[in-house]
Amino acid sequence: MNKPCVQAFRGDILHFTDDPSVGAEDESYEFIDDGLLVVEDGLVLKTGKASDLLSALPAGVPVVHYQNSLIMPGFIDTHVHYPQTEMIASHGEQLLGWLMNYAFPTERKFSDINYARQRADFFLDQLLSNGTTTALVFATVHKESVEAFFECAERRNLRMICGKVLMDRNAPDYLLDTANSGFDESQALIEKWHNRQRLQYAVTPRFVPTSSSEQLSGAGRLLEQHPGLYLHTHLAENVNEVEWVKKLCKDSKNYLSVYAQHGLLGRRSVFAHGIHISEDECRMLADRRCAIAFCPTSNLFMGSGLFDLKQAETFGFEVGLGTDVGGGTSFSLLQTINEAYKVQQLRGHNLSPLKPYYLATLGAARALDMESQIGNFDTGKEADFVVLNYHATPLMELRMQQCSHLRERLFVLSTLGDDRAVRATHILGRRVDGPES
Ligand code: GUN
Ligand code: ZN
Repeated sequence: MNKPCVQAFRGDILHFTDDPSVGAEDESYEFIDDGLLVVEDGLVLKTGKASDLLSALPAGVPVVHYQNSLIMPGFIDTHVHYPQTEMIASHGEQLLGWLMNYAFPTERKFSDINYARQRADFFLDQLLSNGTTTALVFATVHKESVEAFFECAERRNLRMICGKVLMDRNAPDYLLDTANSGFDESQALIEKWHNRQRLQYAVTPRFVPTSSSEQLSGAGRLLEQHPGLYLHTHLAENVNEVEWVKKLCKDSKNYLSVYAQHGLLGRRSVFAHGIHISEDECRMLADRRCAIAFCPTSNLFMGSGLFDLKQAETFGFEVGLGTDVGGGTSFSLLQTINEAYKVQQLRGHNLSPLKPYYLATLGAARALDMESQIGNFDTGKEADFVVLNYHATPLMELRMQQCSHLRERLFVLSTLGDDRAVRATHILGRRVDGPES
């Protein structure tokens, strides 16, 4: 038997054990001032005070010391479109115009697998340099776009979820599949990629306006036939979209019911946005254990609306944070937290500094039903983690000198920080953003 590979990482350590807004906030996380994260064969072995653990480390174990830094579980982006990377920051439209003018023409290019491979690699570099180690990812309607993404993610040994977009109506001809071709191509991709290495598959109807009832039924059949698949789509992001859905689906009680009628609600169903939803829909999300991806940079940029996080907490459905690039304006979960705070300010809700870090780690792992693999530093979990630099810029360093509590430091990190604050990103213990230091 090979000798186990043990590594140790020293710095402040923060991870969550529960939702800070349920029960006592102080009991929802563990913070270790000058801690040690010990990793064995890519999995968390233990965490504790450096002063307690260092002397007990076997001889020869390398210790990487991250000074002035916070070690956290890797960020999890619960909604992002990799093909839209190149059209981030496109001016002047709300959702429906933005799709027609920017997103659809860009996605057309992903029928070319070599083009898709280049873009997938660029996208994954962006995620890692922002400390994001897992994501739930939209590809395009082309099966090549999914092949390219999974190939690139597999090469890097990342935990990723992706799927072919299903869209058989109300979009340019060059992006349409059919109910049959969409079903067959999804089936083939599922057989090839679902549960291969750290990869999983999401059945991905774009949203109700672009999928016929026949196509949504096919999506439901795929979920039924392959336990463990994800369902990933959009829900009630924009008021004109919601009006359109009402016209298209006159017999449905509301937007979410359309998905429900086709068998698309379950523990692994993730709906992006969910801004304009009724109490009935909130209840259904909670009862069926679905999750919402809250995407504040996108919601502000596209003028979509202000997600009601308090309502989500009241009804008790899962929420994760999503960047929604290219509708969103940053790959950084720190910047996503920054905008989440402002969205909640506009709703009159004072978001605690801790809660969004939960949403970006353990909360997202719960939303994706991946809590047994990732999300915190419990023993045995996969050692995907990010190292945040408190002193990433002169302004951050100056501001940090005024902070006396963790809560303040976290708030400064997310308000002023972005990829510059990501000192290192590790996948299964291995540093992936540059040389080990
Ligand atoms: N709704 C349907 N498609 C999209 C998309 O690509 N981005 C966003 N933000 N919303 C959508
Ligand atoms: Zn989206």
